[in-house]
Amino acid sequence: MTETLREPQIIRAQDKMENPTMAFAKDVLKGLSNTPKRLSSVYFYDERGSQIFEEICELEEYYLTRKETEILQRSAAEIILRLPQNTHLVELGSGSSTKTRILLEAAMNRFGTTHYSPIDVSAEILTDTVNDLNQRYPKLQLEAVAGRYEFGMEYILKHSTSSHCIMWLGSSIGNLTRVEAAQFLREVRKYIGESDSLLLGIDLRKGPEILEPAYDDARGVTADFNLNLLDRLNKELGGTFERKNFQHQAIYNVEEGRIEMYLVSNNDQKVEIKNIGVSISFKREEKILTEYSYKYSQDEITTLAEASGFFLEQQWLDDQGWFSLNCFKPQNNAPELRAL
Ligand code: AVI
Repeated sequence: MTETLREPQIIRAQDKMENPTMAFAKDVLKGLSNTPKRLSSVYFYDERGSQIFEEICELEEYYLTRKETEILQRSAAEIILRLPQNTHLVELGSGSSTKTRILLEAAMNRFGTTHYSPIDVSAEILTDTVNDLNQRYPKLQLEAVAGRYEFGMEYILKHSTSSHCIMWLGSSIGNLTRVEAAQFLREVRKYIGESDSLLLGIDLRKGPEILEPAYDDARGVTADFNLNLLDRLNKELGGTFERKNFQHQAIYNVEEGRIEMYLVSNNDQKVEIKNIGVSISFKREEKILTEYSYKYSQDEITTLAEASGFFLEQQWLDDQGWFSLNCFKPQNNAPELRAL
């Protein structure tokens, strides 16, 4: 007998956002008119970019996924044990929910049925994930939300009365500046109640000899990920970028505690972006900044929590102390949020 899939339950959180191609075009025009030039890392994740990112997560040099998985495997039961009975698990940027399954299994062991809401901007990825999870875990109550995180969280927290644990794994918070990260968590703080918590994966500061290869691997997968942004500009906005005229670069800025990823022009050149009617000039060695990936010290994690109305309740590390999983709880009285 063929098994029929349950219809995936995906809510599309209402967002008055403009047409995505228009928003992309505006951001590209603004970013490439800037000095220094910049393109936002949110645009890495078209279909091809998301596939390349999955490959990055498997790389020997890219330790982040491996270390976070190690922590989850060791501590999932303990993490779940700390949560109030029947906590609703909400995940930001869930993608294929691969690592999350470790937590979901621990939650189902403890609570029996478990309520899980992945939130992702990509409805396509969510559909695949929800279908797969439905088949694998009949006891999971799934309600996925396609949309921006703020809209997804507002929707879920309005429609459910239990306690929530909001999970943001993979050190995605590192792709925001420290100020943006605190601003984002302050927003999250507005939506959540006293018994709710945040579970945040945060990569830790370490030496450039480990960090730079993690973002510039020997097989060139990360270079492909970075250069794919130019392919996307060509496909979606009629750009005339040629990959061979740009190089991938990843530098660890020790003072700022961040990886900086660039696309560096190999020569003086002009590139057209036909759909927005512009021609952009590049000097030889001129750079486009495409990503920051911030790394945190223990003090910086505590400061982040306090600056955004939380406190660090518990932290789990991998054996080498390279990656951290952090449970933030809301401070009781946090009207005066601290500046960073
Ligand atoms: C998604 N994010 C946490 C990754 C990171 O490590 O900053 C993106 C990435 N960029 C290059 N490699 C991986």
